[in-house]
Amino acid sequence: MLRLFSRVLTSAHTHRNLESGAVHRCICSATSLPASACPGFAEKPTMEPKLYRPPPEVRGMTSLDKEAFTQTITVPALRVPTGVLNKVVKSLRKATIQRPGMPRVVQDTEESTDFRLVLLDPHRVSSISSFSEAEAEALRSFGVAEELHSYELQLTYDNLKSEEVLEAVLPQGQDVTSGFSRVGHIAHMNLRDHQLLFKNLIGQVIMDKNPGVTCVVNKTNIIDSTYRNFKMEVLAGEENMVAKVKENGVTYEFDFSRVYWNPRLSTEHQRVVQLVKRGDTVFDVFAGVGPFAIPAARLGANVLANDLNPESYRWLQHNCKVNKVDSKVRTFNLDGREFIQGPVKQELPALLKAKTNVHVVMNLPALALEFLDAFRGLLHEESPCDDNLPTVHCYGFSKDDDPDTDVVKRASRSLGLPLENRCSVHFVRNVAPNKDMMCVRFTLPKEVLFNSNHEQTESSEEPAPKRQKCEETTDST
Ligand SMILES: C[S@@+](CC[C@H](N)C(=O)[O-])C[C@H]1O[C@@H](n2cnc3c(N)ncnc32)[C@H](O)[C@@H]1O
Repeated sequence: MLRLFSRVLTSAHTHRNLESGAVHRCICSATSLPASACPGFAEKPTMEPKLYRPPPEVRGMTSLDKEAFTQTITVPALRVPTGVLNKVVKSLRKATIQRPGMPRVVQDTEESTDFRLVLLDPHRVSSISSFSEAEAEALRSFGVAEELHSYELQLTYDNLKSEEVLEAVLPQGQDVTSGFSRVGHIAHMNLRDHQLLFKNLIGQVIMDKNPGVTCVVNKTNIIDSTYRNFKMEVLAGEENMVAKVKENGVTYEFDFSRVYWNPRLSTEHQRVVQLVKRGDTVFDVFAGVGPFAIPAARLGANVLANDLNPESYRWLQHNCKVNKVDSKVRTFNLDGREFIQGPVKQELPALLKAKTNVHVVMNLPALALEFLDAFRGLLHEESPCDDNLPTVHCYGFSKDDDPDTDVVKRASRSLGLPLENRCSVHFVRNVAPNKDMMCVRFTLPKEVLFNSNHEQTESSEEPAPKRQKCEETTDST
């Protein structure tokens, strides 16, 4: 809580009001006086832009000592008659002090009930002439004396923003990004090496300054390439990793430390799901905990969803139940290639005959393009047809200067058929400097699906590894 130092000055010359024990100083009484003509205020060091900078002693602190951030600062104030207080505060919205946990109106330090002090933003107001025309006019019309008073208040840890705390603590001149992704109650950070010494302090600050965050984790740079989840370390708060999130109106629960979840994919999930219609069938080859599968089922599609990670599979099933679509989603715990050559192969002929729209979603951007070879000759025993061939949405990362061309080339190579001019490419997001996530969409060519010369994966010119280990130092997709 803010503690006031009752010092108010009543004229251009400081004097003591012995009765109230308060010191009152008029900073600037004439509307037109420049800041430099207001001795003791505009020139005070506390009026510098970095007024809210915490004391220099906090630099290098590794264990959070909140008391060390407390300091007294001087801010400008207006003495406002109580009767017009609300109107004045409204008119000065942009000029009043805006600090977390700090009141804009305080008791008049002369202890008069007829007046209150309205605290002003020292970065915005250094003299009476700092007010805009409209603000000055409002002050005149409400009969507020055009005098700035200085007011000393205690600025504590609670009144600082997380960036201000961290900027003051971490080594000067080094990057102080305090950004994080929010996954339910978990704040998920990606700290740089120079920040690691301060990791627990950073975690505590993020938790303190973000209501609802009760756990802060740091992901290590190594992504487990098989299941796409990160190793992570709890920096502050509870160890509970079971998060509950809402995305596009759907609720998901999962153990964030054991499955893949990226809050930055919500738009992409929505984009693809919007293409699905009631009665369509969706094969989700790398389903995770269900962000394509479940909304598609809610729209009335029949879904077959697969994930190799037993934990993802378990949470996928759980989320189907939570969202009451378990009768619309069949779940599998297979390798993607086995899923394509098993359940997809079994279901497709009847779906093609019934002219059902079929979507195949393949969101494993590090490897999915290579998995496309699993479609080569998949239905070579069936009689070829042209209608309602499946639409594939396949994701890929690209570091190429021309990512569109790159992903199409790689998809074509994997399918054994050029896709140029028969696909569309969508830029999803930039995941790291020079690394984009792309989505290639195409109708699975009849020449690929029914090709009797291909014996599926084994006949691929460049056989794709079944499970490839790779390490990533970038974002979590
Ligand atoms: C990038 S995540 C995408 C998950 C989900 N579709 C989403 O959009 O959030 C890829 C998923 O593929 C799963 N996975 C990784 N390798 C796989 C494989 N060989 N076969 C099937 N699933 C696999 C991972 O466990 C992970 O859940």
